Amino acid sequence: MALAAASLLLFGLPSVLIISFLAITRVVSRCQSPKELKGRAVLITGCDSGFGHHLAKHLDSRGVVVFAGCLFPEGHGAQSLKKDCSSNLKLLKLDVTSDEDVQKAKEVVQANLPEKGLWAVVNNAGITDWAEIEWSTTDDFQKMVDVNLFGCIRTSIAFLPMVRASKGRMVYVSSILSFFNCLNMGAYSVSKRGMEAFADCLRVEMASFGVKVSIIQPGNFGPATNILRRKTGSDIWERLSDERKQMFNRQYIDLASEYFMTTCNSGFTNTEMVTDAMVHAITSSHPKYRYLLVSKLDMFFFYAFPYLPTFLTDAIFTLSPMYHRRKAMLFSK
Ligand SMILES: NC(=O)c1ccc[n+]([C@@H]2O[C@H](COP(=O)([O-])OP(=O)(O)OC[C@H]3O[C@@H](n4cnc5c(N)ncnc54)[C@H](OP(=O)(O)O)[C@@H]3O)[C@@H](O)[C@H]2O)c1
Repeated sequence: MALAAASLLLFGLPSVLIISFLAITRVVSRCQSPKELKGRAVLITGCDSGFGHHLAKHLDSRGVVVFAGCLFPEGHGAQSLKKDCSSNLKLLKLDVTSDEDVQKAKEVVQANLPEKGLWAVVNNAGITDWAEIEWSTTDDFQKMVDVNLFGCIRTSIAFLPMVRASKGRMVYVSSILSFFNCLNMGAYSVSKRGMEAFADCLRVEMASFGVKVSIIQPGNFGPATNILRRKTGSDIWERLSDERKQMFNRQYIDLASEYFMTTCNSGFTNTEMVTDAMVHAITSSHPKYRYLLVSKLDMFFFYAFPYLPTFLTDAIFTLSPMYHRRKAMLFSK
């Protein structure tokens, strides 16, 4: 009896105190008013299309000074921003793989800062591709990492002093594929997992300066943006060496291509969930560290996935029907 009372005191009391503390800080933070965005500036990369494009329009409608980084400022997407938005929105030519573009963009932002300064940078620019690792070249990995990882590192290092001065926000658009290690997405996962490592380290360093860092992890929004580039089985087949053609037969590559496109086309058809999360990360007084954006049905699965033991996460793929078809087709010769 005495032992039970002592262990209750030892373990029960601290747990109650910790839970109460967490609950109180959460309630207090929720009661704090969201940041007033008017008069502040936000830089977004990759505004030619997709999430970045929609976010730029939304923030412009709320009176934010938007610096919209575009890969092709003369292209259709950039020109539609110019036509539909107020004069507060400024188009920047910003290829995130170019030191020169980033430097020039920094000069333009510095010269056009509103009174309240640069509040946030949304690292959104990105590309994707699919292929098994053995069907890829080092250059394929390099290209992906140059845009998705080094692009955001380059942009962050350039703009951090301005964001630090306003105790603002750094936002990183990652993906569920940063931790969901499925077939065909090796290069993309490498780039996004690297991005998350960068953002996590930055969050710790920036905490003492009052800058908050958030990671957005969208699931499948293939039909809602321009991220999907059509690629056929022949595109892959033609690049394979004879040795690999013998291992990975043509029928399997066609199946993989069909499976990939069908999966991507079954995603969300509008960007709202993602742009809402971006806006929350920029405006809330208590932004989340991570915004996991999948359907309610899938939420628990994706939330738990990174914490499961590796043998289990591997088994989710190796026991799947697609993996079995792959095995059957590759070893049926
Ligand atoms: N859609 C999804 O299902 C999904 C899921 C998870 C994560 N994401 C991530 O969300 C972010 C936005 O993608 P999205 O889905 O909105 O696709 P998107 O419509 O293709 O938008 C990506 C934007 O980045 C631009 N871009 C490409 N290379 C660039 C470079 N070197 N420098 C600057 N900008 C560049 C693209 O310009 P161009 O159009 O001119 O090429 C485009 O405007 C990406 O980081 C992506 O990885 C998307």
